Amino acid sequence: MWTPERRGAPPLTRPSALPTLLLALAAHTAAAAGALTYPWRDAETREWLVCSQCPPGTFVQRPCGRDTPTMCGVCPPRHYTQFWNYLERCRYCNVICGEREEEARPCEATHNRACRCRPGFFAHAGFCLEHAPCPPGTGVAVPGTPSQNTQCQPCPPGTFSASSSSSEQCQPHRNCTALGLVLNVPGSSFHDALCTSCTGFPLSTVAPGGPGAEECERAVIDFVAFQDISSKRLLRLWQVLAGPEAQSLVAPREGRTDLQLKLRQLLAELRGAQAGALGARLLGALREARLSGLERSVRTRFWVH
Ligand SMILES: *[C@@H]1O[C@H](CO)[C@@H](O)[C@H](O)[C@H]1NC(C)=O
Repeated sequence: MWTPERRGAPPLTRPSALPTLLLALAAHTAAAAGALTYPWRDAETREWLVCSQCPPGTFVQRPCGRDTPTMCGVCPPRHYTQFWNYLERCRYCNVICGEREEEARPCEATHNRACRCRPGFFAHAGFCLEHAPCPPGTGVAVPGTPSQNTQCQPCPPGTFSASSSSSEQCQPHRNCTALGLVLNVPGSSFHDALCTSCTGFPLSTVAPGGPGAEECERAVIDFVAFQDISSKRLLRLWQVLAGPEAQSLVAPREGRTDLQLKLRQLLAELRGAQAGALGARLLGALREARLSGLERSVRTRFWVH
């Protein structure tokens, strides 16, 4: 029971301005159970009273009087109180979700609005940062969450990831024989196995321009472009093939995968420009780029038998 500390004048009866639901009973019951109270000095009578507090979601609409309990009012829209309180008004829901955030909990009478990072972002030191992509050669081990960055792992043997992605896992290499094809270049952690239907190895047994010649030329191109050699060597070959005017076009620090794709594209263009002349051009370029080991294996595999 709420109890005034001393008796005085009869309590005021102030008209209630807000048409709010009155929770006096709840407050009253809580006070009876020994719940939270607060000291309150009645403005008119100057006497100290012990008023019960108001529960979460409400505020003190009218403090208790000598003979009346605290009158609690429900928080108006866009306002809240999270705890038992003796606030004269509810707090404004002042949390605004940022550009990289979304609402995790809307503003309600008992709590402020709460935000979390939008999909694709995670919280770090008070900011929402983008989930990092896993670079080529690595795949997603654990996808990022609103609270944690992406976790990457190097692609284990037999798998690859050719792209930079925050969602893709390492994919198994395709099985050329199971597809009824021939393995042209084994897969690495950076690229898939490259298959071909060119069964005319060595290429000299395929009539130039005849059926199958195009597929076999494509196989030579893949074979050269996706050799497991350093970026420096790949770049040298690219420069020899592209000609002197292209020397400055490629930044040396470009990733190897990009260089391989560029080299493949360049070889495909050379093939298109001069049908049947690719072989001689390629072997010459390999020699000029001092890639004698690769020149040898290209000859062995595709030409000399
Ligand atoms: C590829 O497929 C063939 C036949 O389907 C199978 O014998 C072989 O083990 C497979 N290779 C790999 C690496 O899975």
